[in-house]
Amino acid sequence: MTMNEDIIGRADVNDLEAILAVTNTDRDAVVSHVQQHGDVIFTWDYDKGQKPSLEKLYEKAKVSMWNGETDLPWDTEVDQEKVVIANATANSADGMGFADFDVTGTPFEKWDEKQWMRLGIESQNWTLSQFMHGEQGALICTAKIVETVPWIDAKYYASTQVMDEARHVEVFAKYLDTKLSGYYPVNTHLKMLLDDIVQDTRWDMTYLGMQIMVEGLALAAFGFMHQMTTEPLLKQLLRYVMSDEARHVAFGVLSLQDFYGELTDAEIFERQQFAFEAAVRMRDRFLQQEVWERMEVPVKESIELVMRTPTRQMFQMMLFSKIVPNCKKLGLLDRNDAWLRRRFEEIGVIQFEDWVDTGDEYEQFALSEMELRGA
Ligand SMILES: [Fe+2]
Ligand SMILES: [Fe+2]
Repeated sequence: MTMNEDIIGRADVNDLEAILAVTNTDRDAVVSHVQQHGDVIFTWDYDKGQKPSLEKLYEKAKVSMWNGETDLPWDTEVDQEKVVIANATANSADGMGFADFDVTGTPFEKWDEKQWMRLGIESQNWTLSQFMHGEQGALICTAKIVETVPWIDAKYYASTQVMDEARHVEVFAKYLDTKLSGYYPVNTHLKMLLDDIVQDTRWDMTYLGMQIMVEGLALAAFGFMHQMTTEPLLKQLLRYVMSDEARHVAFGVLSLQDFYGELTDAEIFERQQFAFEAAVRMRDRFLQQEVWERMEVPVKESIELVMRTPTRQMFQMMLFSKIVPNCKKLGLLDRNDAWLRRRFEEIGVIQFEDWVDTGDEYEQFALSEMELRGA
């Protein structure tokens, strides 16, 4: 078995057939059970501030709480069709980048305006649904960190993140329910990743999977959408969520930095493999296979076409703009003969290695006094 097969279940990271062969089998289930093992850790060392950067983050979090019900303009009317058109204009295309692409001889050749519109709407419903599911993943993983991390400063901080994530699930669910027009179950690649993170018994793997990988990607994706959307409620919602997310990614970087410096090569190799697996799962999830199924077009062919458009390629790469510098800061890129660097080269995202890491970027994302007072 090749190493890729061992880690991600297929030899070639770009094997579309293998990616699409994995599908969600319990679409109608209301709950999902995941077994978790491992130790819960009590600490009797209550000396606050032993990790000064985490203490600072904790104090910052306490005064940065906002209220999802009262601080966002929920009375905003959202016209989904108008949003699709505005997004299309912003992308100088149709949101998918098809405008700069010849669709002759493809499943889209005979599509009329109604079908393009439906694709735009389904795509919004799908994207926001996956954000909501990812937020629940963060809620659960961070509650787990409260239980498993050995340091009091980290337990304190993680408890504030649990509250943040509850608010994020709440606002995405409310937006979907009251402003959009449909819901999608969790994408199977995202769920596989969340399950892996929850099941791992090593406390730092929760951080690596969630704070570094999933939230690093979310911060980039929310930023992209925040910049693009002209819908004022979603724009503000994303702005508020991002102010929290930047702290969460910082929490991961600041907690793991010293710890990873002390690990052996063999231990670091396991972390490198885990980071690679997470990167691939998230890349797979963004193919939005469920949308193509719902649009009743051949899934594989549609994805192949979309992936060839420049807009899509750019978006797909940008998702890793936070993850790669943070992995570098944690020393994960170059240990073990630059194993993770080679993998990031393979999936075409290494160019972000010297972008700003998120260790203290959260100051820039912080909400102003006025925003916090709901002005
Ligand atoms: Fe979140
Ligand atoms: Fe978060």
